[in-house]
Amino acid sequence: MILITGGHGQLGTELRQLLDEKKLDYVSTDADQLDITDKEATNTFINDMKPEIIYHCAAYTAVDKAEDEGKELDELINVEGTRNVAEAAKAAGSTLIYISTDYVFDGKKKDGMYQVDDTTNPLSEYGRTKLLGEKAVQEIMDDYYIIRTSWVFGIYGHNFIYTMQNLAKTHDRLTVVNDQFGRPTWTRTLAEFMTFVIEKKAPFGVYHLSNEDSCSWYEFAKEILKDTKVEVAPVTSEEYPQKATRPQYSIMDLSKAKALGFEIPTWQEALASFLELEAKQ
Ligand SMILES: NC(=O)c1ccc[n+]([C@@H]2O[C@H](COP(=O)([O-])OP(=O)(O)OC[C@H]3O[C@@H](n4cnc5c(N)ncnc54)[C@H](OP(=O)(O)O)[C@@H]3O)[C@@H](O)[C@H]2O)c1
Repeated sequence: MILITGGHGQLGTELRQLLDEKKLDYVSTDADQLDITDKEATNTFINDMKPEIIYHCAAYTAVDKAEDEGKELDELINVEGTRNVAEAAKAAGSTLIYISTDYVFDGKKKDGMYQVDDTTNPLSEYGRTKLLGEKAVQEIMDDYYIIRTSWVFGIYGHNFIYTMQNLAKTHDRLTVVNDQFGRPTWTRTLAEFMTFVIEKKAPFGVYHLSNEDSCSWYEFAKEILKDTKVEVAPVTSEEYPQKATRPQYSIMDLSKAKALGFEIPTWQEALASFLELEAKQ
């Protein structure tokens, strides 16, 4: 049996859809059914169920709020919550799939891409707590996959694409940061990889998974709005200050995932598929 935490989030919903397509049975939970910050309840739930696989999608994801008013909750969910899930998973003999982020890196490595074992150095509270979540999983478990991803977009959540599309309804011109580079990731590609590692019995450990190719937020916005009349203009991060500092250059090397035989579409291909799907909704 499969357990999903955070099953109603952006990624959790995509994963449920994929498991439905694959006709696999699962139990999907959100904080109402399984609050991962409640150690005892998490332990009881997982030990009663004894899932073979746990897709741990629950997280605190409000990156800017985590810098101040959300700081305690961020730590509670991403560190303590993950520790609770990992301890219960270990006791139940489950394999754990933990989703992490490129924000564990500082983005200062301009000479190349981040490898899975490169030095981490988060610049934000969210990056710090997601990294502590990784460390908890590694400390407690042997049977785990840590999958770091970046710039996630999916049909089922709040994300950059919907923000741009909504702003485009009321603006003729949008300014978007042109000095932060990364790899957008479609939840469908990520969910496929999450099930792929299980199906292929891939070696446990840390993987990077996003769509192929890279871009700045400005380039991403231009592609999202290319069929509209809205002008997209580049600005620097200094001109668009945010509470949390983001890595400037967080392009993660995907070769470990590709070496398993997993085919990764480019972000442009993934975006085109997303827009096609969105048009049908
Ligand atoms: N979004 C991105 O750009 C991005 C980038 C890199 C990595 N990631 C990682 O990808 C994973 C999935 O992210 P996402 O975009 O799907 O995030 P999301 O849409 O915010 O989903 C997170 C889910 O976790 C649930 N949750 C929060 N607190 C909980 C608790 N105490 N117990 C149980 N469930 C709880 C949320 O429920 P409520 O809505 O009810 O609070 C929500 O359903 C996360 O690990 C995230 O860190 C995301």
